[in-house]
Amino acid sequence: MVGRLDGKVAVITGAGSGMGRASAVLFAREGAKVVCADRSGEEEVTAKLIGDDAVAVHVDISVESDVEQMIATAEGHFSKLDVLFNNAGFGGPIMPLHEQTMENWDVVLGTNLKGVFFGMKYGIQAMLRNGGGSIVTTASAAGLIGWKGHSIYGAAKAGAIQLSKAAAMDYAELGIRCNVICPGMFWTGLVKGARDSGTAGQQPPSEAYPPPKNVPMNRWGLASEIANTALFLASDESSFITGVALPVDGGFVCP
Ligand SMILES: NC(=O)c1ccc[n+]([C@@H]2O[C@H](COP(=O)([O-])OP(=O)(O)OC[C@H]3O[C@@H](n4cnc5c(N)ncnc54)[C@H](O)[C@@H]3O)[C@@H](O)[C@H]2O)c1
Repeated sequence: MVGRLDGKVAVITGAGSGMGRASAVLFAREGAKVVCADRSGEEEVTAKLIGDDAVAVHVDISVESDVEQMIATAEGHFSKLDVLFNNAGFGGPIMPLHEQTMENWDVVLGTNLKGVFFGMKYGIQAMLRNGGGSIVTTASAAGLIGWKGHSIYGAAKAGAIQLSKAAAMDYAELGIRCNVICPGMFWTGLVKGARDSGTAGQQPPSEAYPPPKNVPMNRWGLASEIANTALFLASDESSFITGVALPVDGGFVCP
């Protein structure tokens, strides 16, 4: 059987949990060699799940030298880079803007915006050496619409969308595509209920944690649904798509 990522080398950040882990496993199943990057230590577990086609890298994406090393690992271990899935991120404290602190600003932007910039900077250098590639970034519906209590996170994710769109223009003629996934509400480790109930990444226990009211499809999203979207954008099936910010949200941002 031909895999949809046969012969490709992919780096996935946030690969220790949720959407990143689901994507790492799916990408490998579709033929990719995968560098599993995270700061949690769980990247080792994901790489073990995959086996010989994966390597784990301990990385804090808000630290430039870590990201440079992460990309160097892909080239050192698998000799090139075709796909970068800039997926690591977190929400930060939920509160009205006037109560937010400079510390919150620094940590939330450090990962969700600066980390994406570092990934793109070093990922693009490697892709230029390789003659092209596909960069997929996980932003958020909060980067597209106003989301109560999420001012800093929303600003960081909106910034990540614009970084990607501008880079899509810079490298369109050089064979590097840049696209963004904007998830709505997903039952992963990012959601307190999923963490508390120990069910992140599985079907949510709907009695205790009903889906958010404003999702037209009336359910939580699953990490596998982001993995499927990332697979399409990473693969050559999306070869004429660049500069897109695609909501994957059960209709949440539509109304
Ligand atoms: N779950 C949701 O409802 C939701 C909604 C919108 C956007 N997102 C975005 O989806 C992406 C994936 O999140 P998830 O839902 O799978 O959550 P998750 O918590 O299950 O996974 C996120 C992973 O990123 C890692 N990470 C965070 N900061 C990092 C850093 N600085 N360096 C390296 N690794 C880091 C964490 O250790 C974790 O393993 C994030 O960018 C998040 O902002 C999630």
